[in-house]
Amino acid sequence: MTNHIDRVLVGYAGTAGSTKSVAEFIAARLRARGLTTDLRDLAEKPSVDGYDALVLGSGVRDAALLPSAENFMWHNADALRTRPVWLFSVGISPSLRGPLGNLLREVVPTRIAELCELIEPRDYHAFAGVVPRTGAALPARFLLWLCGGRYGDLRDWPGIEAWTTGIAEYLHGAVTA
Ligand SMILES: Cc1cc2nc3c(=O)[nH]c(=O)nc-3n(C[C@H](O)[C@H](O)[C@H](O)COP(=O)(O)O)c2cc1C
Repeated sequence: MTNHIDRVLVGYAGTAGSTKSVAEFIAARLRARGLTTDLRDLAEKPSVDGYDALVLGSGVRDAALLPSAENFMWHNADALRTRPVWLFSVGISPSLRGPLGNLLREVVPTRIAELCELIEPRDYHAFAGVVPRTGAALPARFLLWLCGGRYGDLRDWPGIEAWTTGIAEYLHGAVTA
């Protein structure tokens, strides 16, 4: 017997709000496409039981996902490997430009690559986030300049929408065993 996938968990981990708003956007788009979608903060350690598919996202800090996202994935690794999962991150690196920035943009940080090996998502996508001008120390600002980084709200809403559309289209065509 087969059932259509219709319950999706969108889980996020963030500190300053930009990852949460990306997750809210994704959840709203999945709902608009008829999928029953819950939005949860991964710090609340939501259960994966009852969900047919998951979209997981985290802000990036020091080349790693936030601890609540990493812990959720390590704790639920077996269950995640048996379900369709999409992983996204929100950080600076996708917005880098110039010779050094072009190189760095293509690099998946080791700890994120390890999580991809662990949970085997159908796709991992790094989205640009919000880079505030205030508060950064001079060495960090110099490093950002060197890598062709920019300040501001760099979120690519059309790109996020296109990625979500791909997920919805996959789920509408997929069935659970
Ligand atoms: C202390 C600190 C460290 C960061 N480290 C990285 C990093 O290593 N790689 C990256 O791409 N972005 C990094 N960022 C950028 C954030 O991931 C980005 O601002 C993101 O939008 C934050 O998401 P949030 O608003 O959900 O917390 C860092 C930001 C801060 C404040």
